[in-house]
Amino acid sequence: MNEKNLVAQALFNALDGALELEQIEKLIEKPKTSELGDLAFPAFQLAKVMHKSPQLIALDLCEKILPDGFEKVVATGPYVNFFLDKNAVATQVINEITEKQHNYGDQNIGKSRHVVLDMSSPNIAKPFSIGHLRSTVIADSLANIYQKLGYQPVRINHLGDWGKQFGMLITAYKLWGDEEAVKAHPIDELLKLYVRINAQAEQNPQLDADARQWFLKLENGDQEALSLWKWFRDESLLEFQRIYDKLDVSFDSLNGEAFYNDKMAEIVDLLDAGGLLQPSQGATIVNLEKYNLNPALIKKSDGATLYITRDLAAALYRKRTYDFAKALYVVGGEQAGHFKQLKAVLKEMGYDWADDMEHVSFGLVTRDGKKLSTRKGNIIRLEPTLDEAVERALSQIDSKNPSLKNKETVAHQVGVGAVKFYDLKTDRTNGYDFNLEEMVSFEGETGPYVQYAYARIRSILRKAAFTPNFVTFTSLPLEAWEIVKILQNFSETVKRAADKYEPSLIAKYAISLAQAFNKYYAHVRILEENDGLNNRLALANATAIILKEALRLLGVEAPEEM
Ligand code: ARG
Repeated sequence: MNEKNLVAQALFNALDGALELEQIEKLIEKPKTSELGDLAFPAFQLAKVMHKSPQLIALDLCEKILPDGFEKVVATGPYVNFFLDKNAVATQVINEITEKQHNYGDQNIGKSRHVVLDMSSPNIAKPFSIGHLRSTVIADSLANIYQKLGYQPVRINHLGDWGKQFGMLITAYKLWGDEEAVKAHPIDELLKLYVRINAQAEQNPQLDADARQWFLKLENGDQEALSLWKWFRDESLLEFQRIYDKLDVSFDSLNGEAFYNDKMAEIVDLLDAGGLLQPSQGATIVNLEKYNLNPALIKKSDGATLYITRDLAAALYRKRTYDFAKALYVVGGEQAGHFKQLKAVLKEMGYDWADDMEHVSFGLVTRDGKKLSTRKGNIIRLEPTLDEAVERALSQIDSKNPSLKNKETVAHQVGVGAVKFYDLKTDRTNGYDFNLEEMVSFEGETGPYVQYAYARIRSILRKAAFTPNFVTFTSLPLEAWEIVKILQNFSETVKRAADKYEPSLIAKYAISLAQAFNKYYAHVRILEENDGLNNRLALANATAIILKEALRLLGVEAPEEM
């Protein structure tokens, strides 16, 4: 229950069913100044239903509303102004968190239905890019958020492990490959081969023809092609796995593009049966003019299938396997056109569940204000970058808290957490500039700042040997009320983050809670031995519980000490 619910419920009881609870909630507003109370209800709408002036209705309501939970309720013109009984609210919120612990804010909106998240999805034999990092951490957080709302998340890594680039790679490997080198540094070596063959194919069309040939062989199950493909894939996956271990992210499925190889004939048949296929310059397309989109290219002239064909098969497979309530594709904004086409083709096939698919797009990362570009050498290599983040965290810990036990573990939690947090606090569709120093800083709106607030509270609670118990507040300094207000907004924030696919709302929430606590800490002597001690500790404890839970939703750990 938050303050809005409290007010809505009181109005609902007083109104005898003149408006639905939900309608009432929508009408409640925050007054311009706190002199007008904590919340206000305008009576204009009711005036139309009740054929009375809003001023009169406001006066009537004030008389009927029961005082429980309010300091006072007054009519100001056409408005009913509510002044909350802050002590009552604090008592309720803090006790509820003490009781429910990290389950505070859990909701059962999802009723255990599946939300499938298409996430990470790097391409075999190519480096794991910063875009893949964004996809990984945003989707992982959304999965946690949806789980808290009662959905069952399914994390799917739709690996880019199929396509003509494998024909290119096999051709290159057969010409210039070195087994030992590939084993030692798979992605580096494979990338070199890939770059070399692409450059040469521009001059030498025979190489391109060879590559097509190899990919066709692969699609037709040729043994040699398959075993090379499998080897490239396994080696690349080993390398990706190291990154996933560092990020502490795992998947329910690694069914990538190749998995759908034997499921594409059905798609082509279904499209054909629906009369949706058209020949176009030897290739086969679905016309999407009526959606104002370019045609979707389903099959090339040589019969090879394409990215979108595999995505069509994947969507159908996921619907059949998981009967998803939602399917989220967490993929960079540059693929917006592709996902529009994908949904449009599925709609044309008569699948209304295409409306439950959402392209959750995100913006580009730059460095020093410049676009990243492999060609211009402006690249961020993820593994060494994560290691550097941990190093930086370690050196800060060394100077702040040199005697800390298990420093390495904490440095890992802080360093990696910092990179994730920085990404997640950015509004998803915006990009950001990659700056490790800023990310790992203990000051500012960073992960370490939030983690530090948590660790500080935990240390206070340890010092006081606090054991959770139920409390009654009878006085509340302003700084404490600020904390209570934020705490009671937690459920609503989780819900909004899910509706908007915006983990940034949780990250910003965590920052404001940590800031509110630090203000409180600066103004109030928490550990002073007097009557209020137990209440202050209970407030601090509730703050720690929610800080940790907010960080968990972001996939960031909360060390007990740092
Ligand atoms: N592998 C692709 C890339 O790196 C992303 C795949 C996104 N998912 C999908 N179902 N198309 O660009």
